[in-house]
Amino acid sequence: MKFTRHSRVTLTALMLIAVTLVSCRGQLSDKPPVHPQQNMYFQERFNAQQENPFFDDNRSMRPPVAGTVARGALRENIELYEGIDEDGDFVDEFPVDVTRDLLYRGQDRYDIFCTMCHGGTGDGQGIIMTGQYGYVPAPSFHDARVRELPLGEIYSAIYNGVRTMPSYRSQIPVEDRWAIVAYVRALQQSQNIDEETIREFDVDIAALQEAHIQEQERLAALEEERAVADEPGEVSADLGRQLFTQNGCQACHSIDGSPMIGPTMAGLYGSEVELDDGSTVTADEEYLYESITDPGASVTAGYANVMPAFAHLSDDEINSLIEYIKSLEDE
Ligand code: HEC
Ligand code: HEC
Repeated sequence: MKFTRHSRVTLTALMLIAVTLVSCRGQLSDKPPVHPQQNMYFQERFNAQQENPFFDDNRSMRPPVAGTVARGALRENIELYEGIDEDGDFVDEFPVDVTRDLLYRGQDRYDIFCTMCHGGTGDGQGIIMTGQYGYVPAPSFHDARVRELPLGEIYSAIYNGVRTMPSYRSQIPVEDRWAIVAYVRALQQSQNIDEETIREFDVDIAALQEAHIQEQERLAALEEERAVADEPGEVSADLGRQLFTQNGCQACHSIDGSPMIGPTMAGLYGSEVELDDGSTVTADEEYLYESITDPGASVTAGYANVMPAFAHLSDDEINSLIEYIKSLEDE
């Protein structure tokens, strides 16, 4: 095709227009864009978090109606989700299959979520027990009482928390909670086994014994370190007050007369204490000493036997605690 002069001018003009139009896209404009086709672009609505005077609380975002269950979140199987049966009693059977994989998963999760307080073997000697955190010590999983807890109650400790232990419901999903429960049971069995039963398994007993001796040595060294850290000879109510906080006593005992998880310390010294076997004792120094180092020996009536033993405290520390308790008068 041969271009005439006229068609060349037209072509150039067209190209210029095209270039001008295309270049428009790169330009900024404060004006709203032109919408030849409006559709539902502009409509009356409330944005998220916007105020809405229609409702009493002026919120435009409405909470779901009470009892609403999100799709896929109906948890009818309470044995699985809450560890209880329809009477509200703790279950004592696993609602999941206990497999080797589940146990290893449980070990992995336990080491992440529980060791810092309960210790690697479940002896309650996690890092919080160094005493500098003022946290309630975790009980040993190998105490007779804890060994007898039904599975559902261990599950519940994770799901609901227990007394001063917080719930780990939002950190640990359902299947993992049961994996941890299974692992806790495995730990309990591992620490309470006789030599004859061990021999039935293919394990290196000499190596286990060696590891045990090393662990005992480590604990003994820790004990010694603590003993050096306690300035010997110093016993005072003031020190006792600090120890009371450092050891998390205040999480279970008030000093103002109100009962908490444990009885109040106000006015305790010299008072008559009723025990759960029906007998009474006078709360003298000897009784206080025993209550702190071996709380299971005499349990106060009306309270559960859940106080951890503070046997790792030095005599000076315990005597300071006693001096402090003696200084707390009845309100
Ligand atoms: C922050 C420290 C901490 C962590 C982490 C922790 N616990 Fe505890 N746990 C405690 C304390 C403290 C108690 C004792 C609470 C009390 O008696 O007031 C306790 C008590 C328990 C009990 C005993 C309940 C009873 O009736 O005596 C079980 C079982 C338990 N925890 C399981 C677990 C498991 C499983 C995990 C890991 C998912 C875990 N805990 C993580 C601190 C912790
Ligand atoms: C996990 C909660 C808990 C913690 C932590 C705790 N106690 Fe207790 N304590 C109890 C409970 C429950 C009782 C009552 C049952 C019993 O006698 O074992 C009790 C009983 C006592 C008693 C006897 C009181 C009475 O009326 O007979 C003394 C004394 C005592 N605790 C001191 C302490 C001291 C000191 C600390 C800190 C070093 C401490 N407790 C930490 C729960 C706790």
